[in-house]
Amino acid sequence: MNIVDISEWRYTTKHYDKSKKISAEQFEQLLEVIRNSPSSVNSQPWHFFIADNDQAREKIMPAILEFNQPRVADSSHTLVFCIKTPLDEQYLQNLLVQEEKDGRFNDAEVKEMQDKGRRFFINKNSSTPERQQAWEGRQLYIALGQLLFAAASIGIDSTAIEGFDDEKMDDILGLKQKGLKSILVVSLGYRAADDDNASRPKSRLPKEQIFTQV
Ligand SMILES: Cc1cc2nc3c(=O)[nH]c(=O)nc-3n(C[C@H](O)[C@H](O)[C@H](O)COP(=O)(O)O)c2cc1C
Repeated sequence: MNIVDISEWRYTTKHYDKSKKISAEQFEQLLEVIRNSPSSVNSQPWHFFIADNDQAREKIMPAILEFNQPRVADSSHTLVFCIKTPLDEQYLQNLLVQEEKDGRFNDAEVKEMQDKGRRFFINKNSSTPERQQAWEGRQLYIALGQLLFAAASIGIDSTAIEGFDDEKMDDILGLKQKGLKSILVVSLGYRAADDDNASRPKSRLPKEQIFTQV
């Protein structure tokens, strides 16, 4: 499939075939795609919780709005995307150490510039805790896009789920104590044979309405 075919094949799965599971190897690949997702100033302000068995799915289910519950219950894997609250000094240091370990800096000056640049952008987007969280959330949605496209490219179906109670999810997973906040849920698996949404035509605004040549 070319990239347009993949984008057309992908659709929001409403009903999964519970008997079909993503292989461990392919799921690991999807986690790597998430890990490789770009983020502003390489901030990676995220953490992902994985529910890949009935017990884990039942645990998070009270936080999922009723109409979305089948997308979680019958999925192969469900992920909860979280942001860090706040991005503190320890976190900034941890990023810098990792980048050094990964060979990003030829000398101390490059390292200092990276650190300064990151602090500049984080400060720019952190005039209030809410603004910082909104900026972090935007980074998460990049990972979402990467994940949905990558999954489709290897024949895995998905559902992005904003229809959940984030405060309930935070309580269930003890996120506040961990310095995290849930933003988004994503289910992955294989479509049920009778998922009506699979055969519904895609609906998108025409090109002329969304692209303008400057
Ligand atoms: C951020 C985000 C949140 C969404 N939340 C839900 C949801 O809670 N439940 C659901 O069934 N679909 C959800 N959707 C699916 C959208 O309704 C869907 O992507 C859109 O209608 C386009 O259809 P398509 O994905 O089948 O092409 C969500 C999609 C996105 C990108």
